[in-house]
Amino acid sequence: MLSTLALAASLACAPMFAGAAPAAPADTAAPASANPATAADRQAFIDSLIGRMTLDEKIGQLRLISIGPEMPAPKLMEEITAGRVGGTFNSVTRKDNRPLQEAAMRSRMKIPIFFAYDVVHGHRTVFPISLGLASSWDMGVVEKAARISGQEAASDSLDATFAPMVDISRDPRWGRTSEGFGEDPFLVSQCARASVKGFQGTSPANPDSVMAFVKHFALYGAVEGGRDYNTVDMSPQRMYNDYLPPYRAGLEAGAGGVMIALNSVNGQPATSNKWLLRDLLRKEWGFKGVTVSDHGAIDELLRHGVASTGRDAARLAIEAGVDMSMADTRYLEQLPTLVKSGAVPMSLIDEAVREVLNAKYDMGLFQDPFRRIGRAADDPPDVNAESRLHRAEARDAARKSMVLLENRHRTLPLKKGGTVAVIGPLADAQIDMMGSWSAAGVPKQSVTLLQGMRDALAGKGQVTYARGANITDDPRVVGYLNFLNWDDPEVVQDKRADGDMIDEAVRVARGAETIVVAVGETRGMSHEASSRSSLGLPGSQLALLKALKRTGKPLVLVLMNGRPLTINWEKENADAILEAWYPGTEGGHAIADLLFGDANPSGKLPVTFPRSLGQIPTYYNALRIGRPFTPGKAPNYTSQYFEEEYGPLYPFGYGLSYTTFSMSDVRLSGAKLARDGQLTASVTVKNTGDRAGETVLQLYLQDVMASTVRPVKELKDFRKVMLAPGESRVIDFPIGEDKLRFYNTSLEYVAEPGEFNVQVGFDSAAVKEARFTLE
Ligand code: BGC
Repeated sequence: MLSTLALAASLACAPMFAGAAPAAPADTAAPASANPATAADRQAFIDSLIGRMTLDEKIGQLRLISIGPEMPAPKLMEEITAGRVGGTFNSVTRKDNRPLQEAAMRSRMKIPIFFAYDVVHGHRTVFPISLGLASSWDMGVVEKAARISGQEAASDSLDATFAPMVDISRDPRWGRTSEGFGEDPFLVSQCARASVKGFQGTSPANPDSVMAFVKHFALYGAVEGGRDYNTVDMSPQRMYNDYLPPYRAGLEAGAGGVMIALNSVNGQPATSNKWLLRDLLRKEWGFKGVTVSDHGAIDELLRHGVASTGRDAARLAIEAGVDMSMADTRYLEQLPTLVKSGAVPMSLIDEAVREVLNAKYDMGLFQDPFRRIGRAADDPPDVNAESRLHRAEARDAARKSMVLLENRHRTLPLKKGGTVAVIGPLADAQIDMMGSWSAAGVPKQSVTLLQGMRDALAGKGQVTYARGANITDDPRVVGYLNFLNWDDPEVVQDKRADGDMIDEAVRVARGAETIVVAVGETRGMSHEASSRSSLGLPGSQLALLKALKRTGKPLVLVLMNGRPLTINWEKENADAILEAWYPGTEGGHAIADLLFGDANPSGKLPVTFPRSLGQIPTYYNALRIGRPFTPGKAPNYTSQYFEEEYGPLYPFGYGLSYTTFSMSDVRLSGAKLARDGQLTASVTVKNTGDRAGETVLQLYLQDVMASTVRPVKELKDFRKVMLAPGESRVIDFPIGEDKLRFYNTSLEYVAEPGEFNVQVGFDSAAVKEARFTLE
């Protein structure tokens, strides 16, 4: 492992520098190498720089500055020119970043700064949120979204992105569930790889690539109670088997950076966690890139109560292996005296500086500090120009990211004709289409459901509209959501009485053949610091739905939300439900494409939907227990909740299509698997309906008996297949020993001999099974 990551990093940057001289960085001395084409040259080049830097200049490289009110522009220029800044984030145009880089070129060492931003699921073009991208179960889609986002970001002068966010989240109360790829280690790991490949392209040095910072290391998705920033306390087995694999997958794919989580891990904040950052990340995994703290996290060591002074906090962080401090002043203020007093050895500073400079080297910045900034003459006259957007790709990704949850009496697809009533607080909400962390996306450029329906029906039918309800009537919630935006609030309440809005909506609905109603959460409700203590639709929206139901018209729900919701009434009463997540710039068009059948839904849930809040956690791959609930048997003295039906509302992997599929029994190529051998599990899948469509065949494995308790099942492979009506295909899943391995109680990565159940299905619950033995 150690060598793989190191090698990948050196190979990734090597070809970029052939024949190109780096910008002269020093005061008088020449750069270490005029042609640093190899990893060894990189080391010599960086050594030479470090050898000539003052302590203050070194500490300057460890500062990542948030561009904003805390750092006014003149002060920032002064700091950069003085060599006291390593990189910045939140400033996203060539025009804004050029003078900053010019200031860096006026500093004594002329070391370029880098520009980063949270480009998570889009930059100018906003793609579906990551949870939506994961719902595609199509790694081509995930990679392409990241590729285009990376290209757009690079063409706006950005060198790095704080993405992908690969925290496993099994608790939908956590608002950042929306930012990640769901609950499953295998699926999230696949998405992590695809994303990193997309952002970085063939190399983070390419002028059209950005360096990926995998975040939040580690285990941030497991905050207790789903309450943001809360404690994480977890067994090593759960960590290694379930929560750590996605970070590792992102790093193996070559990510140049890691962002450290805000939470503590088993009693030690990640930011001061030597085990996490040195033993695991560096030694065990061989990570050779740069680490950054999360926003203000070094300072927060005081509030965690593990540092009593700023001096302590800075010392703990640098000792733990935090290379760069994001948006706090502790490194700047404390490291000089810590080093001068001998409390922190210079070697620790040099080590951190080396990682920062290596990253800049790998971004190609020593070769040309302006490689992504370009010449002023080439700046886009309008950064938000339509021509800079990738609408077709965003529409395609959005179509593939939505999940059809219900479709009674084949309500969908709708016919293009007659009158459709489009209703709901999210039916015409441009900003909410984008979801959280929408980077440089512009709300005005996003297509709402209403617009999408109008475009689809133009010249063929009528679209009528009523808002019908506010997202919520709770002033406390509205106040919270608008907290940071009093001048330009995101949630604008309709002042009319609820009853009046509902009456209008009912009138509009009565005049239509079908009702399409967009309900869910505003984007701020599924965001950082937006943990929820309930998962239902707010009362105002449920009241609207109930009134619309009474009209007797076909009721189609389009859900927009960033986490699983408890939608029991909706499931029973809606004629169709399409989970659209936050679908991005082209969301409205994509939804209309699916509602009218111009595209066939193919998304599958990357998270389990619970029946109730009290049922959480509901993730599908739970460990086996001694008294499981067994369908068809008395529930007494079994593990369940007696007030409600057992099991989730919608299982992991679930999603419908406008066509139907059948699957044969599982055939195994043999009954025994040798250690160095391979078995094949095969199924024949058939499109039994009347439309072409895609589905996802999912392979789950269960270790029947092991030295430690193992999950009821674990996703180990999947295939998305497109089939014409009547077409069938044989799908083969190779199974080798690698798929059977897990971390045992001694944290050895082993496959134990014995029986294994192979399950294949269209979701995690509806599977067919076969069994083999590992010898
Ligand atoms: C978030 C990070 C993000 C950073 C910079 C923090 O609040 O936790 O995910 O990258 O801000 O915007």
